[in-house]
Amino acid sequence: MERTGGNRWVPPRLLFLAAMSWLVLVYFHLAVFRGPPVSAPRDGGDGRQRFILRQEEQLMKTPPAAGSSRALPAAGEERRGRRRDGCEGRYVYIHDLPPRFNADILRNCRHWYPWINMCVYLENGGLGEPVDNADGVFADQGWYATDHFGLDVIFHRRMRQYDCLTGDSSRAAAVYVPFYAGFDVVQHLWGVNSTAREKDGLALGIVDWLTRRPEWRAMGGRDHFFLSGRTAYDHQRHTDSDSEWGNKLLHLPAVQNMTVLFVEKLPWTSFDFAIPYPTYFHPSSDAQVVEWQRRMRATKREWLFSFAGGGRNDPYSIRHQLIRQCGASSFCKLVRCRKNERNCLVPSTFMRVFQGTRFCLQPTGDTMTRRSAFDAIMAGCVPVFFHPDSAYTQYRWHLPEAHDTYSVLIPEADVRAGNVSIEETLRRIPHHVAERMTETVVSLIPRLVYADPRSKLETLRDAVDVTVEAIVARVNKLREEMGGGPGHPLLEKHSGDGGDVHQS
Ligand SMILES: *[C@@H]1O[C@H](CO)[C@@H](O)[C@H](O)[C@H]1NC(C)=O
Ligand SMILES: *[C@@H]1O[C@H](CO)[C@@H](O)[C@H](O)[C@H]1NC(C)=O
Ligand SMILES: *[C@@H]1O[C@H](CO)[C@@H](O)[C@H](O)[C@H]1NC(C)=O
Repeated sequence: MERTGGNRWVPPRLLFLAAMSWLVLVYFHLAVFRGPPVSAPRDGGDGRQRFILRQEEQLMKTPPAAGSSRALPAAGEERRGRRRDGCEGRYVYIHDLPPRFNADILRNCRHWYPWINMCVYLENGGLGEPVDNADGVFADQGWYATDHFGLDVIFHRRMRQYDCLTGDSSRAAAVYVPFYAGFDVVQHLWGVNSTAREKDGLALGIVDWLTRRPEWRAMGGRDHFFLSGRTAYDHQRHTDSDSEWGNKLLHLPAVQNMTVLFVEKLPWTSFDFAIPYPTYFHPSSDAQVVEWQRRMRATKREWLFSFAGGGRNDPYSIRHQLIRQCGASSFCKLVRCRKNERNCLVPSTFMRVFQGTRFCLQPTGDTMTRRSAFDAIMAGCVPVFFHPDSAYTQYRWHLPEAHDTYSVLIPEADVRAGNVSIEETLRRIPHHVAERMTETVVSLIPRLVYADPRSKLETLRDAVDVTVEAIVARVNKLREEMGGGPGHPLLEKHSGDGGDVHQS
């Protein structure tokens, strides 16, 4: 039975906004990244893509990196080490899925969007190409032109570096399903192969595959989790009309049993969770993070506030107001994203501005959240939100509960009504308070970055570590509520037969 839910979220507006956002994205891709995706692949033919895919196939097969010494312990070792084992209670088992749920989707990267070849964004473990640091805005290492909806593969690769992986699902605290739900739906949002049936194909397929597995029976899937690097809105189609946006993944009862990760969650559901958008920073060592934090603490912030982004035609939109107020203030730096202005389309342009700004305005846009909020934090700029759903109700695992320690909230309605001056509001914040907020923002950087999945930070915990810890805690709580102790009663029986429970 499908739950269509009482909370239908204004789909027509959403559809329009989504369409607009994609127009912007097209432009973004065409204009920014020196155009590799639209022209023929530089190595001629599909060589580069094949290389990526070979790497991906390798990924699917290779065991966890040698660095994760506690992964996959031998059985005897497990028993002996049980008491002192730092991994006990937080092991994760990664499902070995048929390639149609992940690797095959990557293979189709040339066709995800009718107008752009996304394969270049899958390079370097899904981070994209290194950014050009000729002007010194970034650091020479650790910065990539990452797609803001590209988390599916980054997260999967990063999970392979998690320090407590197990090949024995019966002792796993949680089960990760490396289904590329975001990359899947995106193939069917425009043009070809976009009937409701085609949009739902793999979503129905993964549920069918998972629910037949012995791992599922242990908790009815409540210990399973997976990710879509897009927003939840792309996965909550209500009808079977071909023209309605997205797939119906979120309405599938089995999916509602799992923990689902997005870069933006639905406001009214409790089984999905938002995790940070990927930024351009993907450090491969603690030292790269610490050095970047040192630099961001030391930068001179000559502008009180700044806004980088596109406007909206609606004169009552929050963005229209922000552009007006920023343009009129000598304390504000405006980076407009209009057609034919490369300005805020080149990451170094707005990242440089954020580095020189105390407060960065982060209004809602096509949806409630923005990748830009995380870009601003990377630059040590205190985000100014205009709606709690832009951050506070979203990133509960990653951002501090005391949101006035790292951000400012100016209610959208007041700005729209035109009776609040952003400049005055921000100038009223004493300098020492603002400096303390900057320090808090800089201190958040490690837990908001996605470390380079090809290596592992020595001691710092990144966004994936924070996410897995929260999921394990959530699943343990559910397990208690279901009356089970730790472990999987059903599976323990099952795993004894040495059958297909174990990951190959
Ligand atoms: C559409 O689907 C067919 C059959 O599944 C597939 O062969 C083809 O590559 C798809 N087209 C695109 C552009 O994804
Ligand atoms: C969801 O979990 C419950 C237990 O909490 C279980 O009874 C139910 O069968 C599960 N649903 C599916 C589709 O497996
Ligand atoms: C601004 O206008 C809004 C909406 O009319 C109102 O709710 C709010 O109290 C006003 N704020 C101030 C500071 O006057």
